[in-house]
Amino acid sequence: MKIFLVGFMGSGKSSLGRKLARQLGLEFFDSDKLVEQKTGLKVADYFQLYGEESFREIERDILQKSWYPDNCVIATGGGAPCYFDNMEWMNQNGKVIYLSLSAKTLADRLENSKTERPLIKDLKGQELIDFISGKLSEREIYYNKAAFIISGIDLTAEKLAGYLSHVNENQER
Ligand code: S3P
Repeated sequence: MKIFLVGFMGSGKSSLGRKLARQLGLEFFDSDKLVEQKTGLKVADYFQLYGEESFREIERDILQKSWYPDNCVIATGGGAPCYFDNMEWMNQNGKVIYLSLSAKTLADRLENSKTERPLIKDLKGQELIDFISGKLSEREIYYNKAAFIISGIDLTAEKLAGYLSHVNENQER
């Protein structure tokens, strides 16, 4: 089974995804990292040089055309589900999990994050919260198409693995 983690920037897709993969003994992929390997540029630099539209095309190609093993965990960029047919493609090709968090919690996390994120680079405090609230309400239409929606609050890889094994057991019955 391929497990896709989706959600807003700062929702923990990459860090939880890496730990979840370790816990399940699966290979881990991070779509932003795959884009960086392919382009030789950091995501922030790519945005600056070529713009968001070009980034979205590369992101789709990486997501949909990379080779993945049958069983693996893939963390996607926060915008990926909202462009092209990425969400439908993920739903057809694996189990999609949306890590859901409030705008305020995301803002707190993002203010303390060291990762450079082009969409929010000049924002902090209330401005950041407002930006996230707006974007989140546009994006939730896509995120909510995930097969599983899980609160990201106090979520650990162990809890996520437990949840998935429970879901699998019930589906096999
Ligand atoms: C983006 C999220 C980022 C990265 C790019 C755009 C977005 O990934 O793909 O900066 O549009 O939300 P993370 O969600 O891993 O930060």
